[in-house]
Amino acid sequence: MVSQRIIKQRESLPIFQFRQKIVDAIKSQNLLVIIGETGSGKTTQIPQYILESFENCRLIGVTQPRRIAAITVAKRVSEEHDTRLGDEVGYCIRFDDCTSSRTRLKYMTDGVLLREATLDPRLEHYDVIIIDEAHERTLETDVLFGLLKETFRLRPELKILIMSATLNVEKFSDFFNECPIFIIPGRTYDVAINHHRDAKISSLKSTYVQRAVDTALYIHTQEPPGDILVFLTGQHEIEKACFDLDYQARELNYRKDVKYYNEVKDLVIYPIHATLETMEQRAIFEDPPRGTRKVVFATNIAQTSVTIPGIKYVVDTGFVKQKTYDPSTGMDALLVVPISKAAATQRAGRAGRTAPGKAFRLYSRESFEQMEEETVPEIQRSSLLGTVLSLKKMGIKDIIRFEFIDPPDPILVMNALKQLFLLEAIDENGKLTPLGDEMCIFPLNPFLSRVLVASARQFGCSKEVSTIVAMLSVEEIFLTPKNEEKLIEVDEKRKEFYHPSGDYITFLYIFEGYRDNGYDKDWCRDKYFNHRALSMAKNVRDQLRELMQKHEIPIISCRQKDNREDGEDIHRKKRSKKSYYDIKTKKYDFAKILESFSTSYYIHLAKRHPHRPVFYHYASAKVHTNEMVDSNNSLLALHISPTSALHPDNKTVKINNLDWVMYHSVLYTSKALMKVVSKVKFEWVEEKMKLFKKLETVNLNGDSMSKEKQNVKNDDDDDESIVIKSDRISDITE
Ligand code: CDP
Ligand code: MG
Repeated sequence: MVSQRIIKQRESLPIFQFRQKIVDAIKSQNLLVIIGETGSGKTTQIPQYILESFENCRLIGVTQPRRIAAITVAKRVSEEHDTRLGDEVGYCIRFDDCTSSRTRLKYMTDGVLLREATLDPRLEHYDVIIIDEAHERTLETDVLFGLLKETFRLRPELKILIMSATLNVEKFSDFFNECPIFIIPGRTYDVAINHHRDAKISSLKSTYVQRAVDTALYIHTQEPPGDILVFLTGQHEIEKACFDLDYQARELNYRKDVKYYNEVKDLVIYPIHATLETMEQRAIFEDPPRGTRKVVFATNIAQTSVTIPGIKYVVDTGFVKQKTYDPSTGMDALLVVPISKAAATQRAGRAGRTAPGKAFRLYSRESFEQMEEETVPEIQRSSLLGTVLSLKKMGIKDIIRFEFIDPPDPILVMNALKQLFLLEAIDENGKLTPLGDEMCIFPLNPFLSRVLVASARQFGCSKEVSTIVAMLSVEEIFLTPKNEEKLIEVDEKRKEFYHPSGDYITFLYIFEGYRDNGYDKDWCRDKYFNHRALSMAKNVRDQLRELMQKHEIPIISCRQKDNREDGEDIHRKKRSKKSYYDIKTKKYDFAKILESFSTSYYIHLAKRHPHRPVFYHYASAKVHTNEMVDSNNSLLALHISPTSALHPDNKTVKINNLDWVMYHSVLYTSKALMKVVSKVKFEWVEEKMKLFKKLETVNLNGDSMSKEKQNVKNDDDDDESIVIKSDRISDITE
């Protein structure tokens, strides 16, 4: 039985009084945009209204941009609907499917639906598709828009709903055949906005965390009761802020310092970021104990994805962590950047849901005025590699002319095509190769899919490589102890896993250590490994192997029973303490594993400076003379990250023994640091380097690019510019 409390809560939501109107609108329209303030009940209620009113509806799919939102919302709705999670209401995120044959309402990430659409453009299982949080404009959502438009042409009986907070929705309606827009009137209260007198946002980068804590403390001591929501950018900052505020609040003399002492006698502090633990604290969604004030430090997830009741004060630092493409390296990086005006307005709005509120912006009014109007859609600022590969798999030839709501920069599309060519996933005419086709089986970054396929088809070490790839697909494995002494102790403990060839084999050993110790949480804690990440890696590895089995991709081990270490590391042998691999009886053919990785990461090949412990990106030195250069136009010096087994301080290997390395990404701190670094032999990749040269002559986007170059002579060919490989689609350009 559903509790009276839940029924009451459902009926008190702003959306409830429009229940019938919404149902009628959905009955009469197959394409509909629904907008409503965050917290009005769109995500949790509308799918339930459909479930309750459309008896013949088989399956409703609802997308969320964030994994964590998909899970928590599904949990909440299964509770409201009085079913077990995974039964009638379930969720599906990458590597975690919690649905069954009885599921009728499925919350999922937009990435999951995207993959499903790749496999079945008709989305045959669904009767209703809801794209939620459309205003977030994630890359996956944007591609889905283009695909759904097509799906709708194939299946006009399919119901498609686009749900959004109140931002720029005409655009969605325009895109979907000028469909009607249903507006859920908001119940919002005034929010008084306080800007900082003169702080320029550009000057706040190193101080905003402390300033945010100070502001929260100021509100706590000076303002009437009401909870506080503080926007920060990531887990690390949030943990620090929670700690600092807690510390400072303990120092308060409540009677003397706190103006509303009679009403606010204490403070409870919560973090919210993209890990499940924080979201599972039900207390975040409930009123704090009487006489206490709740402070929540949150990432952007609290801007529109989740609603915390009772918030009266918002502290807006003005920053967000955002995926940003770095054209000079061809890679995506997560960077802390200023938010847009629209985001600042949304954030302030969080203070006025149930009563008038106040927003404290840590930046000046002038800085606000100078912000971008809207956040640039992700598709226009990311590397697009996986997306372009998916589109290729769907048979979309001309990606530059794919029907995007906001087309990405053609240069970024071209860069993605070039990388896919270098990975040999597409050929010189931009056609998906059999290798590329096989890469699509895995829900991985294409670089890693390429490696996995190579390890199975070419090098006979897919068993080990699937483990390493899994380790590379999860969050950070290493935890950093706060205390200096501990740091040295932990460093010492980790050394036993470091392998002289670099981080790939090191990751393999860490995983094996974890496995040999019974996947034990305490073992991880002792070594400061992130248990959550390691257990996820185990899960990912199992799923990758399942996929390999299903698609008859061989799972082979390169274990050699009697092989001794190949002796390249004299350094380590001298050390008295036995390392993890010394005591192991199993030996692997390390070269095979590294060679598998070199099939992708030759693209990130670096050569050591003859006299100094720095490296230079090789292909850029030879081919792309304008890339990977610093402001003086000289080649960028790359350093090995201190977290790498190969970092000189870790004494795993002598730097002189490293001539060539391959790396995953570059992190810019005061230096450019290579992350995930391993040895590579030049002869393995020499042949492949020719592909860089070939890039100059190929035509990767089919005919259209070259046509553009020739100033479009012949318009008749246009009909062929987008061709979806499905015999049911005759012509989608009409
Ligand atoms: O989607 P929208 O922002 O319009 O609202 P919603 O996510 O459906 O949230 C409706 C209400 O449910 C809010 O008052 C939330 O605080 C509440 N809720 C909750 O208590 N627990 C959750 N896990 C999700 C929502
Ligand atoms: Mg929502």
